[in-house]
Amino acid sequence: MRLRFVPSARRITASLSLLAIAVLTGGWSNSVLPVSGPQSTFDTQGPVARAQLDVFYVTVWVTLAIFVIVAGVLAYATFKFRVKDIDPNRPMPPQGHGNPLVELGLIAASIGALVIIAVPTLRAIWYTYDVPEEHRANAYEVNAIGLQWWFKFEYPLEQIEGAGPLVTGNELVIPAGRPVRINLRTTDVIHSFWVPKLGGKVDMIPNRGNHMWLQADNPGYFWGQCAEFCGESHAVMRFRVIALGAEDFAAWVEAQKQPARSVEAPAPGTPVATFASYDMTRKKRNAPGYSAEFDRDPMAAWTAFQFPDKDEDAALIARGRELFREKACVTCHAVRGHEGMGVTGPDLTHFGSRTTLAAGLLENTKEHLHRWIVHPNDVKPGNKMWMGIGTHTNVTMTGYLAWDGETKSYTGKRHIEVNDEEARALVEYLHSLK
Ligand code: CUA
Repeated sequence: MRLRFVPSARRITASLSLLAIAVLTGGWSNSVLPVSGPQSTFDTQGPVARAQLDVFYVTVWVTLAIFVIVAGVLAYATFKFRVKDIDPNRPMPPQGHGNPLVELGLIAASIGALVIIAVPTLRAIWYTYDVPEEHRANAYEVNAIGLQWWFKFEYPLEQIEGAGPLVTGNELVIPAGRPVRINLRTTDVIHSFWVPKLGGKVDMIPNRGNHMWLQADNPGYFWGQCAEFCGESHAVMRFRVIALGAEDFAAWVEAQKQPARSVEAPAPGTPVATFASYDMTRKKRNAPGYSAEFDRDPMAAWTAFQFPDKDEDAALIARGRELFREKACVTCHAVRGHEGMGVTGPDLTHFGSRTTLAAGLLENTKEHLHRWIVHPNDVKPGNKMWMGIGTHTNVTMTGYLAWDGETKSYTGKRHIEVNDEEARALVEYLHSLK
């Protein structure tokens, strides 16, 4: 009996090819595959990311063509020369030992395929390496510094008298439509800077200056991520990039260069305002970090974050500012114009104007900030705020937990106690720093 499975095999191949083409060309991709998420490299929003995606597609098309040709020839040979009858007296088919023409042809075809991939790849490497010569005059420059586990951003073009360059943490605000040259540095281990929709990844290597550039076509809100394993909280070492139009960007820079906002403490006897209450039950380590509403329109949320909260409590803010000093927060965090002067942790001068906290991980709500202050290790395991500085040494630490130099273990005792009421005051103070 002769099985007739050639037509159905053809049909299957044709269907699979159509599906592959539909997915690859993006016609179906957004509904079939989750390729339009916040960290999708398929949803390009700038020339560097586009150049990188183009190289990906060239490679995919060339290898797809090779796959179709090889699989086609294989399928053809398999069906054409299959055993059709079981006859023990059938003579042996003629045996071949190589065909110089076919072999040379295959070598030439392989070299041809490599050249087709190599030319656009090399062109993309030159293009993405640095801002193109003709756009260099228009480029904006920032420094990005990786630390375990957060990002520090410096603006060398925005000098503040007596304080050096403007510094922010975990949220990089850039001008849209302009190339941004980023100097990449690290103070500890290797990190990697990546904004999937705009460009990357380029490593931040100790004792070595690296750089990259990117550009956002339009104003927008983008996700970034450290892309090199750098310790236990690598996966939650994130950041955000906010691209603003020229005027908005200039206004943002001016506002950020100002010292921290001060809220006058109310005169004694003034009735205390009631501030928004929030849930303070302890959350699981991977509890969701942002609301659907924030995710739907992060730019609108970012804009709202630039203005003081409506339910501010001036008395609580004043108490929070005192506690920020008493609880030694000032030794690690700078608040320009207030008491904070540390450089170990992120600069908090305008903390309240950032949409996220804990390195882009949590939406900057009062509830999340409370959780971060009271149980930082639930959010970002191993962070220095919790463990202190100089872990595994005999140095007395400034972190929350006490380290026993004798037994080389954590005692479970806290160096710094922060109760819920104190945390509320700290939250209120930090949120007032617009
Ligand atoms: Cu920093 Cu991974």
